[in-house]
Amino acid sequence: MRQRIHARLHAAVHHRGGDGFDRRRSESYDRLAQRTLRGLYRRVASDVARATPPRGQVLDVGTGPGRLLHEVAAKRSDLSLMGVDPSEDMIALAERLSAERGSAGRTAFRVADVAALPQADHSVDLVVSTLSMHHWPDPEAAAAELARVIRPGGRLMVYDFRFAPVDEAMSALSRHPVFAQGSPVREPVRTGWFPFAVFQLLALSASGH
Ligand SMILES: C[S@@+](CC[C@H](N)C(=O)[O-])C[C@H]1O[C@@H](n2cnc3c(N)ncnc32)[C@H](O)[C@@H]1O
Repeated sequence: MRQRIHARLHAAVHHRGGDGFDRRRSESYDRLAQRTLRGLYRRVASDVARATPPRGQVLDVGTGPGRLLHEVAAKRSDLSLMGVDPSEDMIALAERLSAERGSAGRTAFRVADVAALPQADHSVDLVVSTLSMHHWPDPEAAAAELARVIRPGGRLMVYDFRFAPVDEAMSALSRHPVFAQGSPVREPVRTGWFPFAVFQLLALSASGH
């Protein structure tokens, strides 16, 4: 049963390449996510709200429709929140939803790939990502770019499916010199109505650069 639930959810959200999420697919992903992932967004938003310093900058990589940042905005009004995604249609949807929820002034969305982020060097206090890492085509390039934008002492929190092929990306992040010195946290995450832990978290701290 575990494998079946996981396989169905994974098949529904997995798609190769960021540009695979065109308008129709982005909207149907958002409908599915609203039915199945609200518990995950709530849990991650609480983690982010606890881990980010006052007036900190949060970057959500592979933000999709941006629902996670809406949850974070509701918990912490002092944070600067940016979501990036290589899919133009996902970003258009995130901006539309943000305007509908009245959080447009508090969240910003940009079209960008994890391997080419718009942030300045060492500017981000906390990088978060949910269910996106298994799409990243070049884990080494992703790790190098995340290491570039995170500030010394900053936190990286990546959530993805437990049974997705994420070991290579998790290991690229854990091995990167900026993240290798702290004590990594890698743990199963159970949320919402799922009867077992479908997700996992990799949390790393950035050393001084
Ligand atoms: C399953 S969706 C998850 C969206 C959102 N984080 C959530 O939890 O609802 C995966 C997202 O990762 C994005 N993505 C794919 N390749 C990417 C890359 N190379 N860099 C950043 N994001 C990427 C996709 O465009 C898509 O929006």
